[in-house]
Amino acid sequence: MAMVLSRLGALDLDRAAALHAASFVPLGERAWTRQDFAELLASPGVAGFLLEIEGGDAGLALCRIAADEAELLTIAVAPTRRRQGAGSRLLQAVVERVRASGARSLFLEVAGDNEPARSLYGSWGFAPVGSRRAYYRRVSGDAVDAIVMRLSLS
Ligand SMILES: CC(C)(COP(=O)(O)OP(=O)(O)OC[C@H]1O[C@@H](n2cnc3c(N)ncnc32)[C@H](O)[C@@H]1OP(=O)(O)O)[C@@H](O)C(=O)NCCC(=O)NCCS
Repeated sequence: MAMVLSRLGALDLDRAAALHAASFVPLGERAWTRQDFAELLASPGVAGFLLEIEGGDAGLALCRIAADEAELLTIAVAPTRRRQGAGSRLLQAVVERVRASGARSLFLEVAGDNEPARSLYGSWGFAPVGSRRAYYRRVSGDAVDAIVMRLSLS
């Protein structure tokens, strides 16, 4: 199974929006538009990665690096491509990029009920450092707590 990782660029906005929608709409979250991706990719310190498996779009990840801290902005793997290591491959790309920049901490927020993502982050050594009450507002109107996690890179 051939995985090809590349940098997410300004020509990939529609692919990014499609991947994001396929992953987050089923979770009841708002899909990011191509405009959202355009603005993020144009903002300082943001880097994105796109993963293809056997020639098809399989996943993406975006991070923002600011001085000695970085944040995982999003990570998503197409539903048909899960549990094949794609999420880990994308997270590895982010961690390598952040480490190379000299940042010492990688933060993220994850919904308390998102077991697959919490499990992925736990397997990478992220540890919970706090929570934000009712941080996610689902399309249904439900509010869900976010857990803030941190990976130490020092
Ligand atoms: C979270 C997500 C990115 C994981 O992608 P993935 O490609 O399936 O992850 P991997 O195959 O690399 O899994 C790596 C490890 O994560 C954990 N994991 C991943 N999915 C899991 C699940 N459904 N249940 C339990 N553990 C899971 C396992 O430890 C797994 O290792 P294993 O397969 O050897 O047991 C994917 O489920 C997704 O896109 N979800 C929707 C979007 C989302 O929630 N993004 C994160 C928002 S904070």
